[in-house]
Amino acid sequence: MNTIKDIDLIRQKAQQDDADQTCIYVHMGTCGIASGAMSVLGAIKNKIKEDGAAKDVKVVTTGCAGICSQEPLITVKIPGAEPVIYKQMDEQKVLRVYESHVKGDSAVVEYALARGMEYQIKERKASAGHIPGEKVMTAEIPGIEELPFFALQELRVMRNRGLIDPAKIKDYIGRDGYQGAIKALTEMSSEEVINEAIGSGLRGRGGAGFPIGLKWKFAAAEKNDIKYILCNADEGDPGAFMDRNVMESDPHSIIEGLIIGAKAIGAHQGYIYCRAEYPLAIETLNKAINQARALDLLGENILGTGFSFDISVYEGAGAFVCGEETALMRSIEGKRGNPRPKPPFPAKAGLFEKPTVLNNVETLSNIPQIIVKGADWYKEIGTEKSPGTKIFSITGDIENVGCVEVPIGTTVDTIVNQIGIVSPDKNLKAVQLGGPSGGCIPKDYMHVAVDYETLQEYGAIMGSGGLIAMSDDKSGVDIAKFFIDFCQDEACGKCLPGREGTKQMLQILEKIDSGEGSPDDIETLKVLCGVIRKTALCALCKTAVNPVLSTLRYFPEEYQEAVKTKVEMGG
Ligand SMILES: Cc1cc2nc3c(=O)[nH]c(=O)nc-3n(C[C@H](O)[C@H](O)[C@H](O)COP(=O)(O)O)c2cc1C
Ligand code: SF4
Ligand code: FES
Repeated sequence: MNTIKDIDLIRQKAQQDDADQTCIYVHMGTCGIASGAMSVLGAIKNKIKEDGAAKDVKVVTTGCAGICSQEPLITVKIPGAEPVIYKQMDEQKVLRVYESHVKGDSAVVEYALARGMEYQIKERKASAGHIPGEKVMTAEIPGIEELPFFALQELRVMRNRGLIDPAKIKDYIGRDGYQGAIKALTEMSSEEVINEAIGSGLRGRGGAGFPIGLKWKFAAAEKNDIKYILCNADEGDPGAFMDRNVMESDPHSIIEGLIIGAKAIGAHQGYIYCRAEYPLAIETLNKAINQARALDLLGENILGTGFSFDISVYEGAGAFVCGEETALMRSIEGKRGNPRPKPPFPAKAGLFEKPTVLNNVETLSNIPQIIVKGADWYKEIGTEKSPGTKIFSITGDIENVGCVEVPIGTTVDTIVNQIGIVSPDKNLKAVQLGGPSGGCIPKDYMHVAVDYETLQEYGAIMGSGGLIAMSDDKSGVDIAKFFIDFCQDEACGKCLPGREGTKQMLQILEKIDSGEGSPDDIETLKVLCGVIRKTALCALCKTAVNPVLSTLRYFPEEYQEAVKTKVEMGG
């Protein structure tokens, strides 16, 4: 049986391991692999082997570096010198970097993205752009703290981004991983864990923004020997890939969050529900779970603390509705993933009718640091009602497509115009937040702060973090049609308003879009939105009306223009 002392030894050793060694980090998230990271990795490994340099140069495969549009990325770190991040690598380029930078100590300026790594940004800013004691590489390469994409982010959930190998538990432990779980299991009562979560003000990042501490409190209050804690890793919103990123890059942060949550509510079994379309995430999670079991961080009597808890990964078939909590639980039970009415709420009768908590990937990954550093630390950033950070996957008509983590309350302008940067050949029309349940923020409202309450005032939602920048070559009707098409396709069909209502809406939008619509159709659309919102069984179709209402609110003239054609033609 491993003990807390053994984990401490692993931590100390891991912290020493890479300190004095030349490392080449190859960023191997799905985006990196899709852009060719495998062949970059193969080329560099072969070359090092050929040179007999394996003892001197370590190749570390890490998760995503966050900036998809520059993949494949590598980072070269030589002891005593500034690390350099290289972009858009291929087999030839990486060999040139190896010869010039690793062997010759001269960075290749034309392939370089930045000097420094993300974890150094604050220190670099504070000490005039370099870390004292580190050799400064050529100033022709920008310092990472000068690049808004990196400098405007605040990494908490993604604090290990680009630094650890997700397949090696010792890397996570070396970054103080599992210290939160150890503290919760050895020094805190369930009530104290729950109070810390409540005090932090952390709200669920899966979309609804419900305070995690309260959710835990309700489930903890239930008297039952069998309870479950589940992680929602279904991530079905089009354009959303934040959770995939966390699963692929830092799986242990989710496992640790689940252990702490299990202690809080008194659960001994957990499930991570992940769509089968995320094979790398599933493989990474399973590896991580096995490694945690091998170190007695999961299983019977965790590290001799007397607390037992284990986790299984459940592969979903990728239906959007299975992200809804009651449907997700049915799916794990092996039944058809249909939602059911609430109450009873899952805290009372969830998976297999037992008290159950469901939390999102990002929500859970916040937990370990809250336990280690405390609720007050957590509230230092973000807004009063929504402390902490939020990860957004930013896509659409921008240059820097990627995953970004910013304090809640950051403006849309900062995210889109400074971090994302609208493509020079495009005119921004609006930003769509919250996917099929969300809405648009038009370009005139870029000052809007991204937090739960403010976005709702403007008819959008925070959602799970999908953020799509749209240029003016798309009409409001197009946008509404895209999302309604998605929702009517994904609606499970169990309730009539959801099943028939979304179909009707799509038909009307298609009619308007093809120039066959009339002003009456716009009115019918509005009525349908109201009826579906009130009567549909679950949030999938209830909120499916949001993109329609939002585009009607901000771009009414585009709907009117589309039906005018028909009126003018005497239709
Ligand atoms: C149709 C539908 C799909 C959803 N998909 C997801 C999802 O993929 N991931 C997620 O975390 N939450 C999703 N949710 C929200 C969950 O039902 C639930 O509120 C969330 O997982 C709770 O975790 P949190 O409190 O940490 O946010 C979805 C909800 C609906 C109605
Ligand atoms: S609202 Fe839509 S997804 Fe939900 S039960 Fe009804 S048809 Fe199914
Ligand atoms: S580069 Fe990793 S999410 Fe895209």
